[in-house]
Amino acid sequence: MNAGDPLRHRPLENRLALITGAAGAIGAATAALLAQRGARIVAVDRPGTDFAALEKALGGDLAVIEADVTDEASVRAYVAQALTVTGTIDVFFNNAGIGGPVARIADYALEDFRRVMAVNVEGVFLGLKHVLPVMQARGSGSIVNAASASGVTGSPGMWGYNASKHAVVGLTRVAATEAAPHGVRVNCIAPGPIRSKMMGRLDDAIGSEEAKRARGIPARRYGLVSEVAGVVAFLASDDSTYVNGAVHAIDGGLTAI
Ligand SMILES: NC(=O)c1ccc[n+]([C@@H]2O[C@H](COP(=O)([O-])OP(=O)(O)OC[C@H]3O[C@@H](n4cnc5c(N)ncnc54)[C@H](O)[C@@H]3O)[C@@H](O)[C@H]2O)c1
Repeated sequence: MNAGDPLRHRPLENRLALITGAAGAIGAATAALLAQRGARIVAVDRPGTDFAALEKALGGDLAVIEADVTDEASVRAYVAQALTVTGTIDVFFNNAGIGGPVARIADYALEDFRRVMAVNVEGVFLGLKHVLPVMQARGSGSIVNAASASGVTGSPGMWGYNASKHAVVGLTRVAATEAAPHGVRVNCIAPGPIRSKMMGRLDDAIGSEEAKRARGIPARRYGLVSEVAGVVAFLASDDSTYVNGAVHAIDGGLTAI
């Protein structure tokens, strides 16, 4: 590829990227970057979502689908709808997730635990269940699951979130072993604290400034959504064709300590 080659700047030209949680902070930033690199975007988010900001950011050039990732019929439907756009799915960012409460175990309600597991684990499992066969039949595709630094370390008080993100790492690894012989890659990202609404809610629960100091991030700052999007774009592209089943820390060195 030479410097004048359009694929150098638009490595995802003609690729179809399906993104769940697409109206959220990381989802929207990733949708914008993948679109900038040439991908057509199908954006999924929960029923009642306002997609206006995302549509504006992408110049209206995207398909939007309202679906609850915890409901199998809805997942089947969003995959079928995505397939009507170009007939295939090249990239799947399995990203929808919720944080849940931060509390001591005695105060952590079982229903909160179940809700977090439903969205973060069952939602990711269902996405894999319905997208992997499409990619495997075609012999190509890249899936990126949203895990977290909480998927590889303990995060105090985040019982459901921590368990759910460890499960996402496990789902990623088992999916990669099933998918690799078919030419499909499944990786996950493990962001540390990223400037976003989700982080804001957590900081409110922990105590904002104190939380930043206590988190002890070697980079001494939270990450940016653009810094997450860049890694997803790399994993979506042909620059990462031998990268499979891996957990990609995006955390300013947090989990290196
Ligand atoms: N923000 C961070 O610091 C951070 C760090 C590590 C990992 N993550 C993970 O990255 C992903 C995106 O996080 P974010 O910061 O953009 O959060 P966000 O809250 O901005 O976005 C999450 C999106 O998921 C959607 N969603 C939630 N439940 C859904 C459901 N049942 N069906 C469909 N959509 C649903 C929400 O509507 C929202 O748009 C999550 O999986 C999160 O756990 C975030």
